[in-house]
Amino acid sequence: MKKELKILFDATLYEDWSDLPEDYQRLMSEARNATYEAYAPYSHFHVGAAILLADGSILSANNQENSSYPCGACAEQSLLYYYGASARRSPIVAMAITARRAEKKDFLKIAPCGKCRQVMLETYHRQKQAYTILLEYGGGQFLSLPSIEVLLPCDFNPDILQEIKP
Ligand code: THU
Repeated sequence: MKKELKILFDATLYEDWSDLPEDYQRLMSEARNATYEAYAPYSHFHVGAAILLADGSILSANNQENSSYPCGACAEQSLLYYYGASARRSPIVAMAITARRAEKKDFLKIAPCGKCRQVMLETYHRQKQAYTILLEYGGGQFLSLPSIEVLLPCDFNPDILQEIKP
């Protein structure tokens, strides 16, 4: 039997900074601050990311480019690999992502690139716990998504590798 499927997901739009819960304001502020330490002399696109851990602590990072362009690292990947390499065991409960043009103050709408989504998915499987994704949505608005799963449907994940184990 052939079935037509529709994959839908819930999202929350915060239309103003003051609509964000206090811990999300703190998290997004850290992500925004991190854009100022980005190394993006080639794209001039400064990306900042921050994660809120269950113990209340926040880690942040940014994109780091390279004159050999493909060698550069996105903010989300820099951050999640740093978190993974650290001794921190407190799970991630939320991740904020934002961006800014070099020399400009306004924060821009952003969504994680495909490779970042795959890295974010691995973190989800690793900690076996969904985490909220809070995106800078432009014009001072923010979009909150319940889990990376909704940004990467029909994903390649560890379960698929499990199936080919001898
Ligand atoms: N970039 C990120 O840091 N995260 C994304 O999800 C999209 C793109 C960076 C990579 C590069 O340094 C610059 O933004 C322009 O693509």
